[in-house]
Parts: sequence; C-alpha cells; structure tokens
Amino acid sequence: MFEALPASAPDAILALMTEFRADERPNKMDLGVGVYKDSKGQTAIMRAVKLAEKKLYDEQNTKNYVGPAGDQVFCGFIRELILGQDYDQTRARSVQTPGGSGALRVLSDMLHSVSPDATTWVPDPTWPNHIPMLTAAHHKLERYRYYDSANNKVDFDGMMASLSNAKEGDVLLLHGCCHNPTGSDMSLDQWQAVADLVNKHKIIPFVDMAYQGFGVGLEEDAAGLRLLVNNVPELVIAASCSKNLALYRDRVGSAIVIGANASAADLAQSRLTTTVRANYSMPPDHGAALTAMIFKDDSLKAIWMEELNEMRTRMQRLRREFADALRKRSNSDKFDFIAEQRGMFSRLPLTKEHIDRLRDESAIYIVGDGRLNVAGLPDDGLDDLAEKIVAVMSD
Ligand code: LMR
Repeated sequence: MFEALPASAPDAILALMTEFRADERPNKMDLGVGVYKDSKGQTAIMRAVKLAEKKLYDEQNTKNYVGPAGDQVFCGFIRELILGQDYDQTRARSVQTPGGSGALRVLSDMLHSVSPDATTWVPDPTWPNHIPMLTAAHHKLERYRYYDSANNKVDFDGMMASLSNAKEGDVLLLHGCCHNPTGSDMSLDQWQAVADLVNKHKIIPFVDMAYQGFGVGLEEDAAGLRLLVNNVPELVIAASCSKNLALYRDRVGSAIVIGANASAADLAQSRLTTTVRANYSMPPDHGAALTAMIFKDDSLKAIWMEELNEMRTRMQRLRREFADALRKRSNSDKFDFIAEQRGMFSRLPLTKEHIDRLRDESAIYIVGDGRLNVAGLPDDGLDDLAEKIVAVMSD
C-alpha cells in the first residue's frame, strides 16, 4: 500500500538538525534549530527545573490521567504569565497542550470547525511549520507582507495593504514577540493599528507566543499581545514553554481562548476540549507539572526568572558583539540591524550558495533562508565567524 507514496519533503529546520548531529568535524557550529545554547554550546536543563524535578519526584503520588484540558492550575499560571497579573480573566479559558505546536494545531482545528470557509492570513516570512500545520487543519491560506528585507524591519505598510483584503471571519496569524525568523517585532503603535484593523474587518487574531522572555523581558515581550487582548472582542493564543523554560522535549504549552464574554469563552473551551479528545486525548503531564511547581513556589520562580534573565542578556550581548564584528570585517553598517532585533533569530542576506559553502567549508550551520540562531554564536569566535561570512558574501 505504501509503495506508491511520493517521498515527503523533510522539514528544513529538522533536516538541518539531523545533518548537524551527523557532522563529525570537531569545530562545527550550530546556528540552526531554535534551541538556546549557553557559552559552552550546551542546551542545559534550567536550575529551577532541576530543583522542581527533585520535588516532583518526592511529592507526586499518582500518574492518573490529567484529562483533555490538562491541569487547570498550570493553565492559570500560563494565562497570568501571558495576559498579566492584573488581567481580569473572566473572558479567558485555556487547555494544556503538548508544546506550543500542540496548541497551534488544536487551535487551528478548532477555528476550522467554527469557521470552515475562513481564510487564514499568514506572515511572509513565518516559522516554516505554520504552513503545513494550518494546511493539515484544512485552512485556506493567504500570505501578508511582514518583513522589508532591504531595510531589515517590519514592512508595516505592506502588511496593512495585504490585510486590507481580509474578510469578516478570517483568521490573522501573528507572532507575539521575537518574530521567527526575522527578529523584527511591531511597535506598540503598530499593534494598536492591527487591533483597529481586526475590529474594522471583524477578523480573529491567532497569536503564536513562543519566545516570551527572550526579547526585552517577560512583561515587555507580552505588551503588544496584551494591547490586542484589551482592544478586540475575541482571539486565540498558542503559548509555548519550550524556550523560556527550556522544556523542549517535555512538550509544554497551552491553547488560550479569549471570548467576547464568559459564556462564549466557555463554549470555545468546550470545543477545544473535544478537539483535544478527538486528537491526542490528553496532554503529557511531566513538564507542565514542573512548570506549575516552579510558578507556585516563589523561590523557584525567582531562580527561573534570574536564569531567563541571564539567557536573554547573553543573547542581547551576542547580538551587539556580532554586529560589531561584522561592521569591522565588512567595513559597513549593513549588519547593524542584528543588534537591534529581538529574541533568538535574525536573518542574514545570504544566498543558498553562501549557506552551502559555510556548511561545507567551515561546518557552520545556518537555515536555508539565512536565519541564524543568536544563542548558538560562539562567545570567543565572533571575529572569525564574521570573517567567514563576509568572505563568502564577497566572493
Ligand atoms: C525553530 O524555529 O527552530 C524551533 O521552533 C524548532 C522547530 O520546531 O522548528
């Protein structure tokens, strides 16, 4: 039955991760997949997570099912993290999901079941897996302009022009912060203009919040999304704890719905719960239990926030130092944008040939669109890396 299947195209980011792991060159450098790395190149388990794991081992006394909606204590903590402590949660509901991707998928399924004829507007560029995920959930897709790669900033006029074609009931996919792959986020004024457009066209925002705490700070990174939440009647959010708690493989996330009122929110959550049950039945517990344990214990939470702060300031410093190194090597300011962008990623103006040469000649792994993981930059090898990049670009 399977002989006639056409071979599936591999996911570009995951294929690069596999290629990197198979590379035996000792000096190889992974600037590909979006995982945080420390100065030793390790993706360590966070200190608060390690402590919570010990506590969980001692205290957990059952492995009984958590139910399709997951642990509502965990869900409440994530809602508070994203929506803010002062947010009145009357209209907000959520379920625990297997990672931010699980949230993206169940929300996509749920939105399609509610509004099967809607078009979903997806930023160009976006995280590559948004497209197959939404397509698998039967969404009709349109792209909207998001990035001005000539000037390395949000193409806000282009975005508004594309979205002026959105119809009532359409879905608008947005990145909550630290846009993947560009590192370029909207200003608060631009978020306000998006809220106005959402209300004018009666469309529903679908916000992917995967990097909160990696940009400017936990509160600052959520400011645009919170503005939207306070200005539109309804929206949905896919939240991930993969990056800010480094719980990648434990698959920790949450799907949040904000309804026009409490009873609409209840109905949306009920649809979400049946979507989960029909999909994977129930989320895994371990990582969410650790997260809840950290958030309910002030000292663990303080340790987590301190480490997250260290991670973010390290990435900010690497951005500045890498931009400096590239300025010196290229004798131009054309890479200065790297210091100004936010989060884990920026995109370098590299062609496929440049990227292939960096991999083949120097064991430097960069995603095919030029996306580079800032956390993978070497503390001590920035000049050398800058030299290699400028050399391939000027050949
Ligand atoms: C990335 O963008 O590299 C990460 O979100 C990992 C992934 O699953 O693609």
